[in-house]
Amino acid sequence: MAKANVDFSAIDREKLPKHVAIIMDGNGRWAKKRMMPRSFGHRAGMERVKDIVRMSSDIGISALTLYAFSTENWKRPKEEVGVLMSLLIEYLRRELGELLKEGVRFRFVGMRDRLPAEVQSILDEAMESTKDNTGMDLCVLVNYGSRAEIVEAARLAAEEYAAGKISEVNAEEFEKHLMTAGLPDPDFVIRTSGEQRISNLLLYQIAYAELYFTDVAWPDFDEKEYLAALQQFAGRNRRFGDIK
Ligand code: FPP
Repeated sequence: MAKANVDFSAIDREKLPKHVAIIMDGNGRWAKKRMMPRSFGHRAGMERVKDIVRMSSDIGISALTLYAFSTENWKRPKEEVGVLMSLLIEYLRRELGELLKEGVRFRFVGMRDRLPAEVQSILDEAMESTKDNTGMDLCVLVNYGSRAEIVEAARLAAEEYAAGKISEVNAEEFEKHLMTAGLPDPDFVIRTSGEQRISNLLLYQIAYAELYFTDVAWPDFDEKEYLAALQQFAGRNRRFGDIK
Protein backbone atom coordinates (compact mmCIF):
# COMPACT_ATOMS: atom_id res chain seq x y z
CA MET A 1 0.00 0.00 0.00
CA ALA A 2 1.11 3.56 -0.61
CA LYS A 3 2.13 5.35 2.54
CA ALA A 4 -0.51 7.48 4.23
CA ASN A 5 -0.27 11.13 3.17
CA VAL A 6 -0.03 12.57 6.64
CA ASP A 7 2.98 12.76 8.93
CA PHE A 8 2.19 10.71 12.00
CA SER A 9 5.75 10.40 13.26
CA ALA A 10 5.01 12.72 16.22
CA ILE A 11 2.39 10.46 17.75
CA ASP A 12 3.45 8.30 20.66
CA ARG A 13 2.92 4.74 19.42
CA GLU A 14 2.62 3.51 23.00
CA LYS A 15 -0.48 5.63 23.45
CA LEU A 16 -2.34 4.46 20.39
CA PRO A 17 -5.56 2.51 20.75
CA LYS A 18 -5.21 -1.20 20.06
CA HIS A 19 -8.61 -1.63 18.48
CA VAL A 20 -10.44 1.21 16.76
CA ALA A 21 -14.11 0.77 15.84
CA ILE A 22 -15.71 3.27 13.47
CA ILE A 23 -19.34 4.14 12.77
CA MET A 24 -18.99 5.60 9.31
CA ASP A 25 -21.91 8.01 9.23
CA GLY A 26 -22.90 10.88 6.97
CA ASN A 27 -22.44 9.60 3.42
CA GLY A 28 -26.01 10.51 2.48
CA ARG A 29 -25.92 14.02 3.91
CA TRP A 30 -22.50 14.61 2.35
CA ALA A 31 -23.91 13.74 -1.07
CA LYS A 32 -27.09 15.76 -0.56
CA LYS A 33 -25.04 18.85 0.22
CA ARG A 34 -23.47 18.43 -3.19
CA MET A 35 -26.85 17.82 -4.82
CA MET A 36 -25.74 14.32 -5.69
CA PRO A 37 -27.48 10.96 -5.13
CA ARG A 38 -26.80 9.05 -1.91
CA SER A 39 -24.89 6.44 -3.90
CA PHE A 40 -22.30 9.14 -4.69
CA GLY A 41 -21.77 9.61 -0.96
CA HIS A 42 -21.41 5.89 -0.35
CA ARG A 43 -18.84 5.63 -3.14
CA ALA A 44 -16.88 8.51 -1.63
CA GLY A 45 -17.20 6.68 1.70
CA MET A 46 -15.66 3.57 0.19
CA GLU A 47 -12.66 5.59 -1.00
CA ARG A 48 -12.26 6.83 2.56
CA VAL A 49 -12.30 3.27 3.85
CA LYS A 50 -9.20 2.58 1.77
CA ASP A 51 -7.32 5.54 3.28
CA ILE A 52 -8.27 4.77 6.86
CA VAL A 53 -7.47 1.05 6.53
CA ARG A 54 -4.06 1.87 5.08
CA MET A 55 -3.22 4.45 7.73
CA SER A 56 -4.38 2.19 10.56
CA SER A 57 -2.15 -0.58 9.30
CA ASP A 58 0.82 1.76 8.70
CA ILE A 59 0.58 3.36 12.13
CA GLY A 60 0.42 0.02 13.94
CA ILE A 61 -3.21 -0.33 15.10
CA SER A 62 -3.81 -4.02 15.93
CA ALA A 63 -7.47 -4.14 14.92
CA LEU A 64 -9.82 -1.89 12.98
CA THR A 65 -13.55 -2.50 12.93
CA LEU A 66 -15.79 -0.79 10.40
CA TYR A 67 -19.57 -0.77 10.73
CA ALA A 68 -20.57 -1.19 7.09
CA PHE A 69 -24.19 -2.38 7.31
CA SER A 70 -26.45 -2.83 10.30
CA THR A 71 -29.44 -5.15 10.59
CA GLU A 72 -31.57 -1.97 10.55
CA ASN A 73 -30.10 -0.87 7.22
CA TRP A 74 -32.37 -3.37 5.39
CA LYS A 75 -35.12 -0.80 5.91
CA ARG A 76 -33.49 1.47 3.32
CA PRO A 77 -34.77 1.51 -0.28
CA LYS A 78 -33.82 -1.63 -2.19
CA GLU A 79 -31.63 0.32 -4.61
CA GLU A 80 -29.57 1.79 -1.78
CA VAL A 81 -29.11 -1.61 -0.14
CA GLY A 82 -27.98 -2.86 -3.57
CA VAL A 83 -25.46 -0.03 -3.88
CA LEU A 84 -24.00 -0.76 -0.44
CA MET A 85 -23.65 -4.48 -1.22
CA SER A 86 -22.04 -3.73 -4.60
CA LEU A 87 -19.57 -1.33 -3.01
CA LEU A 88 -18.57 -3.95 -0.50
CA ILE A 89 -17.94 -6.44 -3.31
CA GLU A 90 -16.05 -3.81 -5.32
CA TYR A 91 -13.93 -2.83 -2.34
CA LEU A 92 -12.90 -6.40 -1.60
CA ARG A 93 -12.24 -7.24 -5.26
CA ARG A 94 -10.08 -4.17 -5.68
CA GLU A 95 -8.30 -4.18 -2.36
CA LEU A 96 -7.79 -7.84 -1.52
CA GLY A 97 -4.36 -7.87 -3.18
CA GLU A 98 -3.29 -4.84 -1.15
CA LEU A 99 -4.65 -6.28 2.07
CA LEU A 100 -2.66 -9.44 1.42
CA LYS A 101 0.51 -7.50 0.68
CA GLU A 102 0.07 -5.46 3.85
CA GLY A 103 -0.44 -8.59 5.97
CA VAL A 104 -3.97 -7.57 6.98
CA ARG A 105 -6.24 -10.34 8.24
CA PHE A 106 -9.81 -9.80 7.11
CA ARG A 107 -12.73 -10.82 9.26
CA PHE A 108 -16.43 -10.61 8.51
CA VAL A 109 -18.67 -10.15 11.52
CA GLY A 110 -22.43 -10.38 11.16
CA MET A 111 -25.21 -12.72 10.11
CA ARG A 112 -24.70 -14.38 6.78
CA ASP A 113 -28.25 -15.57 6.17
CA ARG A 114 -29.75 -12.52 4.43
CA LEU A 115 -26.65 -11.50 2.53
CA PRO A 116 -26.60 -11.99 -1.27
CA ALA A 117 -24.65 -15.10 -2.33
CA GLU A 118 -22.04 -13.00 -4.11
CA VAL A 119 -21.38 -10.99 -0.95
CA GLN A 120 -21.08 -14.16 1.13
CA SER A 121 -18.61 -15.68 -1.28
CA ILE A 122 -16.34 -12.60 -1.50
CA LEU A 123 -16.38 -12.30 2.31
CA ASP A 124 -15.38 -15.98 2.53
CA GLU A 125 -12.67 -15.51 -0.06
CA ALA A 126 -11.27 -12.48 1.78
CA MET A 127 -11.24 -14.33 5.10
CA GLU A 128 -9.78 -17.51 3.66
CA SER A 129 -7.00 -15.84 1.68
CA THR A 130 -5.89 -13.57 4.54
CA LYS A 131 -6.31 -16.03 7.42
CA ASP A 132 -2.59 -16.67 7.90
CA ASN A 133 -1.67 -12.99 7.88
CA THR A 134 -0.25 -11.62 11.08
CA GLY A 135 -0.70 -7.87 10.62
CA MET A 136 -3.73 -5.77 11.47
CA ASP A 137 -7.14 -7.41 11.89
CA LEU A 138 -9.69 -5.69 9.66
CA CYS A 139 -13.11 -6.51 10.90
CA VAL A 140 -16.08 -5.49 8.75
CA LEU A 141 -19.52 -5.60 10.30
CA VAL A 142 -22.18 -6.49 7.75
CA ASN A 143 -25.77 -7.36 8.66
CA TYR A 144 -24.67 -6.95 12.25
CA GLY A 145 -26.61 -5.99 15.38
CA SER A 146 -25.18 -6.18 18.87
CA ARG A 147 -28.30 -7.08 20.85
CA ALA A 148 -28.96 -10.08 18.62
CA GLU A 149 -25.31 -11.10 18.98
CA ILE A 150 -25.55 -10.92 22.80
CA VAL A 151 -28.80 -12.90 22.94
CA GLU A 152 -27.36 -15.58 20.68
CA ALA A 153 -24.13 -15.82 22.71
CA ALA A 154 -26.16 -16.17 25.92
CA ARG A 155 -28.35 -18.81 24.29
CA LEU A 156 -25.35 -20.84 23.11
CA ALA A 157 -23.64 -20.64 26.50
CA ALA A 158 -26.87 -21.70 28.25
CA GLU A 159 -27.21 -24.60 25.81
CA GLU A 160 -23.70 -25.78 26.67
CA TYR A 161 -24.49 -25.50 30.36
CA ALA A 162 -27.72 -27.47 29.95
CA ALA A 163 -25.81 -30.17 28.05
CA GLY A 164 -23.29 -30.35 30.90
CA LYS A 165 -20.41 -29.19 28.71
CA ILE A 166 -19.59 -26.27 30.99
CA SER A 167 -20.05 -26.02 34.76
CA GLU A 168 -21.26 -22.41 34.79
CA VAL A 169 -22.15 -19.59 32.44
CA ASN A 170 -19.52 -16.95 33.19
CA ALA A 171 -18.00 -14.06 31.22
CA GLU A 172 -15.28 -16.26 29.75
CA GLU A 173 -17.71 -18.88 28.45
CA PHE A 174 -20.13 -16.22 27.21
CA GLU A 175 -17.43 -14.27 25.34
CA LYS A 176 -16.40 -17.39 23.43
CA HIS A 177 -19.72 -17.15 21.61
CA LEU A 178 -19.48 -13.50 20.61
CA MET A 179 -18.80 -12.99 16.92
CA THR A 180 -15.68 -11.04 17.84
CA ALA A 181 -14.17 -13.86 19.93
CA GLY A 182 -10.40 -13.72 19.77
CA LEU A 183 -10.20 -10.00 19.05
CA PRO A 184 -9.24 -7.47 21.72
CA ASP A 185 -12.16 -5.28 22.83
CA PRO A 186 -12.27 -1.94 20.99
CA ASP A 187 -10.67 0.75 23.15
CA PHE A 188 -11.63 3.62 20.85
CA VAL A 189 -14.94 4.21 19.08
CA ILE A 190 -15.23 6.94 16.47
CA ARG A 191 -18.52 8.15 15.01
CA THR A 192 -18.55 10.68 12.22
CA SER A 193 -21.16 13.19 11.10
CA GLY A 194 -22.54 14.67 14.28
CA GLU A 195 -24.75 11.98 15.81
CA GLN A 196 -23.72 11.00 19.32
CA ARG A 197 -24.99 7.47 19.73
CA ILE A 198 -23.75 3.91 19.50
CA SER A 199 -26.47 2.39 17.29
CA ASN A 200 -26.21 -1.24 18.39
CA LEU A 201 -22.44 -1.48 17.83
CA LEU A 202 -20.55 -4.07 19.94
CA LEU A 203 -22.41 -3.09 23.12
CA TYR A 204 -20.71 -5.69 25.31
CA GLN A 205 -17.25 -5.23 23.82
CA ILE A 206 -17.06 -1.42 24.14
CA ALA A 207 -17.79 -1.30 27.87
CA TYR A 208 -14.55 0.61 28.57
CA ALA A 209 -13.93 2.21 25.20
CA GLU A 210 -13.21 5.90 24.79
CA LEU A 211 -15.78 7.58 22.56
CA TYR A 212 -15.02 10.20 19.92
CA PHE A 213 -17.69 12.08 18.02
CA THR A 214 -16.94 14.47 15.21
CA ASP A 215 -19.17 16.60 12.98
CA VAL A 216 -17.05 15.68 9.96
CA ALA A 217 -18.95 13.46 7.51
CA TRP A 218 -17.39 10.07 6.75
CA PRO A 219 -16.36 10.97 3.16
CA ASP A 220 -14.39 13.92 4.61
CA PHE A 221 -12.83 11.92 7.44
CA ASP A 222 -9.32 11.88 6.00
CA GLU A 223 -5.97 10.95 7.50
CA LYS A 224 -5.63 14.36 9.14
CA GLU A 225 -8.96 13.96 10.90
CA TYR A 226 -8.03 10.44 11.94
CA LEU A 227 -4.71 11.61 13.33
CA ALA A 228 -6.51 14.31 15.36
CA ALA A 229 -8.80 11.63 16.80
CA LEU A 230 -5.86 9.37 17.66
CA GLN A 231 -4.05 12.29 19.26
CA GLN A 232 -7.07 12.98 21.41
CA PHE A 233 -7.16 9.33 22.48
CA ALA A 234 -3.44 9.48 23.36
CA GLY A 235 -4.17 12.40 25.71
CA ARG A 236 -7.04 10.76 27.56
CA ASN A 237 -6.60 9.34 31.02
CA ARG A 238 -7.92 5.78 31.05
CA ARG A 239 -8.64 4.57 34.57
CA PHE A 240 -10.97 1.59 34.15
CA GLY A 241 -12.71 2.52 37.41
CA ASP A 242 -9.43 2.89 39.29
CA ILE A 243 -8.20 6.24 40.74
CA LYS A 244 -4.71 6.52 39.26
C1 FPP B 1 -23.80 5.80 6.83
O1 FPP B 1 -24.12 6.90 6.04
C2 FPP B 1 -23.05 4.81 6.10
C3 FPP B 1 -23.47 3.55 5.82
C4 FPP B 1 -24.79 3.05 6.22
C5 FPP B 1 -22.65 2.60 5.07
C6 FPP B 1 -21.18 2.74 5.11
C7 FPP B 1 -20.64 2.18 3.86
C8 FPP B 1 -19.55 2.60 3.19
C9 FPP B 1 -18.64 3.60 3.73
C10 FPP B 1 -19.24 2.05 1.84
C11 FPP B 1 -18.66 0.69 1.71
C12 FPP B 1 -18.06 0.06 2.89
C13 FPP B 1 -16.95 -0.72 2.89
C14 FPP B 1 -16.48 -1.39 4.14
C15 FPP B 1 -16.13 -0.92 1.68
P1 FPP B 1 -25.65 7.28 5.88
O2 FPP B 1 -26.10 6.75 4.60
O3 FPP B 1 -26.41 6.80 7.07
O4 FPP B 1 -25.55 8.82 5.84
P2 FPP B 1 -26.66 9.86 6.33
O5 FPP B 1 -26.84 9.63 7.80
O6 FPP B 1 -26.04 11.16 6.01
O7 FPP B 1 -27.90 9.57 5.53
